[in-house]
Amino acid sequence: MRELIVDLKDRSYPIYIGAELLQQKSLLTHHIHSKQVLVVSNDVVAPLYLEQVTQALTDYTVKHVIIPDGEQNKTLQQVNRVFDSLLENKYSRNATLIALGGGVVGDMGGFAAACYQRGIAYIQIPTTLLAQVDSSVGGKTAVNHPLGKNMIGAFYQPQCVIADTTVLNTLPDRELSAGIAEVIKYGLIRDPEFLDWLQTNMHSLLTREAEALAYAIERSCINKAEIVSEDERESGIRAILNLGHTFGHAIETGMGYGTYLHGEAVAIGTCQAADLSCRLGMLPASDMLKINELFRQARLPVTPPEMSADKYIDLMSVDKKNVDGNIRVILLEALGKAALPQSVDTQVLTQTLTEYNG
Ligand code: NAD
Ligand code: GLY
Repeated sequence: MRELIVDLKDRSYPIYIGAELLQQKSLLTHHIHSKQVLVVSNDVVAPLYLEQVTQALTDYTVKHVIIPDGEQNKTLQQVNRVFDSLLENKYSRNATLIALGGGVVGDMGGFAAACYQRGIAYIQIPTTLLAQVDSSVGGKTAVNHPLGKNMIGAFYQPQCVIADTTVLNTLPDRELSAGIAEVIKYGLIRDPEFLDWLQTNMHSLLTREAEALAYAIERSCINKAEIVSEDERESGIRAILNLGHTFGHAIETGMGYGTYLHGEAVAIGTCQAADLSCRLGMLPASDMLKINELFRQARLPVTPPEMSADKYIDLMSVDKKNVDGNIRVILLEALGKAALPQSVDTQVLTQTLTEYNG
């Protein structure tokens, strides 16, 4: 097992990465300091892994809430079902919530934990690659609003993250690739060596070689933990984790939540951000082609869906990086180096939105 620490002073916590971790009862129970436990999962993950988790919790009162699968259910309405259960079962402020699932369950579970009685402890058990390398780490919790992705949320750190790589065996190929989009992101924004490794080892990731997956998860989490430790609430450097997300969120919201997987939208969005970086003279065209090629290698889309530039711009103007309503995006200065968010000329942005087509 590999163990990393997200260093946030008195709110520091470990990330455990390895095979068969759900079998290690004490890993979970060590972080629970109450009798009352609520597991939040969804109707795909619960039939696969809920029993394994509850078996580790025989000494506790365990209830669960099962959310319908899908990004379209990342809503306040579903979070309210979590509150209903916590209240109906008279759960106290020292109760612990466990989020067992992908990023949707993790973001929603974390948000419910942040709000219930102004904050109860929670544990992330991420079950997708995307959640293991990104969403379970760093304490961003949220639900979507019809007018904007992740617009209702809180920063709220978990007690620990348990990334059991064995659960990735049941993940559909398309979801695996979506997770690789966020893995590539770390290479692009700050880790050129890792980017080289990805270019060489993509096949091993796609064929789920255990060592390759564990390495990619660990290296991604090291990158994320360093950034989060430096800038927990995104007043600066943390924003670079949003490379491709301003475009990607617009695609997700504009096409209807769930049409594109989050990682797919991020892949396309990153190519759009690379195109914009080229148009602004920050990145050579040859680097942009390398980025496209890497996403293709990961079996990810690079061609944007049909959506007018006006609609993109309208959607991109609802983004947490914006200042005074002005769109700000993360651009690339080199392969392995992202720049802090910046406003861009609307004409050049429109060129990317109308002319870049993969
Ligand atoms: P997801 O949670 O929808 O999971 C993807 C699919 O895989 C779902 O159908 C799910 O039921 C299924 N699944 C999960 N684990 C499985 C397993 N082990 N075996 C079989 N099927 C399994 O999506 P995701 O890609 O994990 O997460 C995307 C979400 O994460 C988005 O809402 C995005 O906004 C959010 N996100 C948050 C952060 C953050 O910092 N909080 C970062 C990145 C993404
Ligand atoms: N996924 C972006 C962040 O955690 O900041």
